[in-house]
Amino acid sequence: MGYKVAVVGATGAVGREILRILAERNFPIDEIVALASARSVGREVSFGDKKVLKVQNLETFDFGGWDLALFSPGGAVSAKYAPRAAAKGCIVVDNTSHFRMEPGVPLVVPEVNASALKKARRGIIANPNCSTAQMMVALKPLHDLFDIQRVVVSTYQAVSGAGKSGMDELYHQTKGSFVHDAPEVSQFTKQIAFNVIPHIDRFMDDGATKEEWKMTVETRKILDPDIKVLATCVRVPVFIGHSEAISIECAKPIDLDAAYKALRAAPGVIVRDEREDGGYVTPLECVGDDDTYISRLRIDPTVENGLAFWCVADNLRKGAALNAVQIAESLDKQKLLGPDTPLGKPVERPEEPPED
Ligand code: A2P
Repeated sequence: MGYKVAVVGATGAVGREILRILAERNFPIDEIVALASARSVGREVSFGDKKVLKVQNLETFDFGGWDLALFSPGGAVSAKYAPRAAAKGCIVVDNTSHFRMEPGVPLVVPEVNASALKKARRGIIANPNCSTAQMMVALKPLHDLFDIQRVVVSTYQAVSGAGKSGMDELYHQTKGSFVHDAPEVSQFTKQIAFNVIPHIDRFMDDGATKEEWKMTVETRKILDPDIKVLATCVRVPVFIGHSEAISIECAKPIDLDAAYKALRAAPGVIVRDEREDGGYVTPLECVGDDDTYISRLRIDPTVENGLAFWCVADNLRKGAALNAVQIAESLDKQKLLGPDTPLGKPVERPEEPPED
């Protein structure tokens, strides 16, 4: 049996990738609809190699009778329309940060906590922040082995994390520099071409940015509420592929061989660590891949039970679209999708968080 699936934000960077991955992985679909703003009605988007969909208007769309909606239209739009879809019995997998920390909304990386899906009491499941998702895939096998207490992470995040307009800005600034055009800055706070910007999302009262806060609180919700995380999130002039330099401090002594073995066996992880020129993975090499790559694994001798490594993944795939589709696959596998399942019933008051 196939499902009726809606892709919301289908003209955006993540929405297009969701359509590509649904087709690529043969997700069981009977009917699919592409939704975006009124601006895009009638535009065409590809669903796999053979099918083209005409974009419809989210505002006037009726989610009644639809099984699943994969949302990536931005936080404010999800906030308004995801509860409307859930109220009609359509399960929402939302890519924005809007619902992530709310009670009754599971935040899921299927390799780590797929069992949380059945607790989606509001009919909404949240996809984590792109930087959190790849870090969770890498940390899970290490946490199981060594009991991680603290994480220090610096990110090197691609402009596609800021959507299609972020990619356009890097492209235009780079091109413009060759004809000496003054760079136009709108998506980022400073010129991003030939630069790095230590600022993603808004500043919080304690001096951290919201992106850094997300990595902390989302790690606790997904992996372990006791882990401490210090993140520094940085935008770099890379189109696709987030990189992270991660250091962990653990309760148990580190066995480097055991760490390699666990990472090599972990779902969604590929270790490439040759300790020689080029024996590591860079973001350019992971574009279009589903896996999270680990390189530069080494003992951190500056703390007790410390381990450091380099982690790279395609932010549009594992960091967003792929993880969302994997959540859909996991819902299907756990028989949680469709009108006759506990989650497939209309949610009476999806706006109100239940008591946790
Ligand atoms: P549209 O192209 O019609 O603006 P990105 O993050 O790559 O910028 O993509 C954002 C996606 O969210 C696009 O598909 C965009 O559609 C969609 N979107 C933005 N605002 C709305 C809205 N008010 N209603 C529906 N879709 C929206």
